[in-house]
Amino acid sequence: MLIPIYLSIPRYIMLNNTMFSVNQIRQEFPLLQKQFCFFGGKKGSVVYFDNAATTQKPKQVIDAMVAYYEEENANVHRSLYTLGEIATRKYEQSRKIIAKFLGAKEKEIVFTRGTTESINLVASTWGKRFLSSGQTILLSEIEHHSNLIPWQMLAKEKNLQLKFLPLGENGALDIQNIESFLQDNVGLIAITHASNVLGSISPVEKIISVAHQKKIPVLLDGAQSVPHIGVDVQKLDCDFLAFSGHKICGPTGIGVLYAKEKWLQEMPPYQGGGDMIASVWLDRAIYNEIPFKWEAGTPNIAGAIGLACSIDYVSSLGMENIHTHEKSLTQYAISRLKDIKGLKIFGTNQERVGLVSFCLEGIHPHDMAQFLDSRGIAVRAGHHCAQPLMRKLGIPATIRASFYFYNTIEEVDFFIQSLQEAKEFF
Ligand code: ALA
Repeated sequence: MLIPIYLSIPRYIMLNNTMFSVNQIRQEFPLLQKQFCFFGGKKGSVVYFDNAATTQKPKQVIDAMVAYYEEENANVHRSLYTLGEIATRKYEQSRKIIAKFLGAKEKEIVFTRGTTESINLVASTWGKRFLSSGQTILLSEIEHHSNLIPWQMLAKEKNLQLKFLPLGENGALDIQNIESFLQDNVGLIAITHASNVLGSISPVEKIISVAHQKKIPVLLDGAQSVPHIGVDVQKLDCDFLAFSGHKICGPTGIGVLYAKEKWLQEMPPYQGGGDMIASVWLDRAIYNEIPFKWEAGTPNIAGAIGLACSIDYVSSLGMENIHTHEKSLTQYAISRLKDIKGLKIFGTNQERVGLVSFCLEGIHPHDMAQFLDSRGIAVRAGHHCAQPLMRKLGIPATIRASFYFYNTIEEVDFFIQSLQEAKEFF
């Protein structure tokens, strides 16, 4: 007898040699327990498949932020009293946890509002100082707008050229001709580590190695990689890495820029104000040491504490375990999607994070998203902030299901069943 594929997929993840259940993990996420009334009247819990947009938060993260506000709230780095020192310690402890998670030094971790601000910071400071007229920034055709627009703006201001590594087979980046791209006086490569539309993981080791042979720095957009496969900046040797807290079970409004110390020492400041200074006169200032030089104004203290808690949370599960679970879910989802007539998947690269984008013949992705919502399933439909990629694919939009470690095979089954029902409905 043939065993259905899904029965061979583990419902348990190994954790420090003990098994734990995805269903137990789900108990720690209040939103996943909540009953909703969906469009059309269906009542029940949500099947949350929009994790590439933002992830749900475990109670530990919510509690850590509430505890800060209830018990530790004070400003950091300037309050000469016990409470201020507690808040400062918690804030700096958060930086330490994040640095360890990435394999970085504490002073290489700059708190920002998220991936977008991190990339804008590099463009506005490093880019202005180190790139000059006539140079090229090498990007790719699959970039999210946040790793495209800041470079377009800088290119316009500084008369730079933008070039793009092409989309290859199966949704992976085609880097066969990377050497020829690097002939063009390239000053920076800025590339997505994992595509938010296609799920493909970029061959960043190879890109970084080739770039560094020519002394070209590399920035990685880690928005979709850090939460799903983890990143060791020392191993990868990237020069810059950007990611967002809310995509790794942390709060919104907080993110990280990792930059090599040698760059941070040279980069001019981004915003001026309190905390980023060492000494100020009416007509000049000496700036603070790194990383504080990039954290002007009162920072998002609760956000940093929440983010560190979320990093502790995913670390306790193990990034490899998370990736394994997501990979199983995605392989299973893809194998079942392939059975649906008229359905086209975009991006079938094997090296991938846990998401799948597709279109179903005759049904607009927005209509499909609304239909799925009536079944209690949350997916994203649209251009996913990657309009040039949509143009390249010749479509206006896709439906995207994106998974995290708390999603289950049963949810995927229900999703597939709902897609089949949609075909009858439209
Ligand atoms: N960048 C996020 C996404 O891909 C918002 O959905």
